[in-house]
Amino acid sequence: MKTLFIGYGRMGAALGDAWLATGLIEQLSIVDPGLTGAGGDGRYTRLADVPDEAFELIVLAVKPAYASEALAGLSDRQCAQACVISVAAGVTQATLSAALGQRCPVVRAMPNTPVLAGAGCTGLYAGDELEASQRTRIGQLFEAVGLASWVTTESQLDAVTAISGSGPAYYHLFSEALAQAGVKLGLTAELAGALAAQTAFGAATLQQQRHADFAELRLAVTSPNGTTAAAIEVFENGEKLRDLVEAATAAAYRRSVELSQNS
Ligand SMILES: NC(=O)c1ccc[n+]([C@@H]2O[C@H](COP(=O)([O-])OP(=O)(O)OC[C@H]3O[C@@H](n4cnc5c(N)ncnc54)[C@H](OP(=O)(O)O)[C@@H]3O)[C@@H](O)[C@H]2O)c1
Repeated sequence: MKTLFIGYGRMGAALGDAWLATGLIEQLSIVDPGLTGAGGDGRYTRLADVPDEAFELIVLAVKPAYASEALAGLSDRQCAQACVISVAAGVTQATLSAALGQRCPVVRAMPNTPVLAGAGCTGLYAGDELEASQRTRIGQLFEAVGLASWVTTESQLDAVTAISGSGPAYYHLFSEALAQAGVKLGLTAELAGALAAQTAFGAATLQQQRHADFAELRLAVTSPNGTTAAAIEVFENGEKLRDLVEAATAAAYRRSVELSQNS
């Protein structure tokens, strides 16, 4: 699949490098002003220098503020047979399509940072104009860097953003708090950090088992009257933790809607 990346920063490079490594894409052109050693060989610092040829896939991975400007610079030939995938957070399909002059179908993707480690989560949305074969191919591309799921309405991407897009930060915050609590209980910062990180990894690994049920996993380590039960009682008292998670994700959702409305 002849592919052009517009923007090859953290997210663009994570996707492009993974797709090349897995052989899902054989030919890659990149445009990014920060490229070193650019000039031919499929690497350019300006879109205007990219050859005027047809691409099958164009991946937009610039910051949201530059999304429309970058797409508007594509030539008719470059996008005539292409499907555009945008990972720009909060930039709506209407905005992207308008910038493209409706010249090709657009897919919005909402990945998260673990994509950088091949363990990401991506919500995908496309309108009816996307062909079934393109949908399958694009699903495969994102499955190469983790879990990929199509949502049926564009507004569901705001929910994906609130759960998995921002989600890694929630887990990092919990690990940070757990490590700090470990220090208060007398551990060195180094050991408390290592225990928090490895525990997050171990718990996530158990959660990935087939048919894993979160509540069952929790109950399996919670003996009546034991140490875990003492801690869980504090978390669950008056459903404090669940209420906090609900309020926090609702705030992320509202912010995502706001950003989309201003895109
Ligand atoms: N990182 C994440 O976890 C994540 C998650 C979900 C979605 N996203 C989305 O992914 C997009 C990229 O994020 P990122 O974290 O990868 O940002 P990044 O590391 O700053 O990468 C963006 C790259 O695009 C380049 N660029 C700027 N204007 C350009 C143009 N007109 N043409 C070509 N390249 C251009 C930038 O170059 P300069 O630095 O020289 O300007 C930079 O190298 C954002 O829209 C973000 O919303 C990221």
